[in-house]
Formats: sequence, structure tokens, C-alpha cells
Amino acid sequence: MISASILSADFSRLKEEILDVIEAGADRIHLDVMDGHFVPNLTFGPPIIRSLGKIPKPMDAHLMVTNPEAYLDAFAELGCEVITVHVEAAHHLHKLLTEIRDLGCKAGVSLNPATPAVSLEPVLPFTDEILVMTVNPGFGGQKMIPEVLEKMRQIRRMIDASGQDIVLEVDGGIKVENIASAAAAGATRFVVGSGIFKSADYQMTIAALKEKISVTTSSGMIV
Ligand code: DX5
Ligand code: ZN
Repeated sequence: MISASILSADFSRLKEEILDVIEAGADRIHLDVMDGHFVPNLTFGPPIIRSLGKIPKPMDAHLMVTNPEAYLDAFAELGCEVITVHVEAAHHLHKLLTEIRDLGCKAGVSLNPATPAVSLEPVLPFTDEILVMTVNPGFGGQKMIPEVLEKMRQIRRMIDASGQDIVLEVDGGIKVENIASAAAAGATRFVVGSGIFKSADYQMTIAALKEKISVTTSSGMIV
């Protein structure tokens, strides 16, 4: 499943870009919300997303903000399927995740490259998706940090041992050339930004990404 991160889209034609990438085969639209504090970049908030009107595919809000609790209602009202908060930005992570679920959204938790997998252990029962950052968050177009894949394998094993239905998603520097390594490490959903939006043909790129995933998963080369 490919989630297209709009961070690298042409913001002057944002609605068109979103419809184009959905037409090209993106399964979900990934909203990178940044506040300039949690990460050294400032992107967009609810008013911009609201201005886009109806988006014909699910959206997931990746909140890279210091106070995610202030934005849960707004992104739930926008109809986000998943709201993802960072371990590092949550003083009360359990409370945040349960509030997201109470709003009718799926609860996502993300961790930066240096944050250990064990920090997720206590909140697995309250989590629907885990978003593993394979770059230091804040910008699109960065190189994947391959060492994080070992942590991805560890989280894959944690999820499998928990017996829970938790989606493992990777985010940052994912391209046609390296998506197989993320799939082999146990990811089942892939956020791709510049790998799609900076490519010449969205359809061809997404088809190539999906092909790499299916070859890896069907060959059983997981973890
Ligand atoms: C980074 C964001 C990612 C990023 C992905 O802080 O969370 O979603 O936009 O973009 P690429 O695929 O270009 O690394
Ligand atoms: Zn993201």
C-alpha cells in the first residue's frame, strides 16, 4: 500500500496533484503537518486541507508538532483515516492514542530514527499503525537511513508477538531502488513523497514501487 506524501507536491496545484497521484495508483494521501518546533520546517494545517474539498482516497495526518493534542479534533473533522503522533512529542501518549480512537480515527504512533522500539511496547494495545521514520523528520527528498531497518525488523517481531492487527509503515527516503529492503524488514505500508512527485510519470513510478513490494513479499524474504 502506497501513501503519497504531498510534502513534495507542487503546492500551487495541490488539489490537481492529489487527484493525479490518486489516479496514478496511490492508496492513501499522507499529510505532513509540521509546526517549525518539533521539526525545523513549517508546512500546512487544517485550513489548507479543508480548502481542498473532497479527497477520493483516505488521508493520514502525520503530526510533527509539539502539541498534537491541540489538533486531533480538527484532523478528525477533516475525515482523516489515521492520525499519527510522535512518541517524542507526547507527554501522555496513552491518553493521546485513546483520544484519537475516541474520535473515530485509527491511532498512529511514529518514532524518529534514534528512538528505541521498546518505547512502543506499553502502547501496542492502543495502536493501529506504527510509522517508522527512516529519515530525521522535517523535509522530503532525504536519503533513507538504512540502519533503521534493523529497528523495523524488531518492531515487526514485536507486532507479530503481540498478536495484534497493527500496520507497520515506513516513512522517509523510500524509492523504487530501496522499497524492497523496507518490505523485507516487515513494512506493509510505504510513505513515498519525492520518489513519486519528483518522478516523470506518477503511474509508472507507483506501479514500479508496488511491483518491488509484491516480488519481495511473495518471495517470503521478510525479516
Ligand atoms: C518527513 C516526512 C515524510 C517525507 C517523505 O518529515 O514525514 O513523510 O515527506 O518524503 P520523501 O519520500 O521524499 O522522503
Ligand atoms: Zn510523514
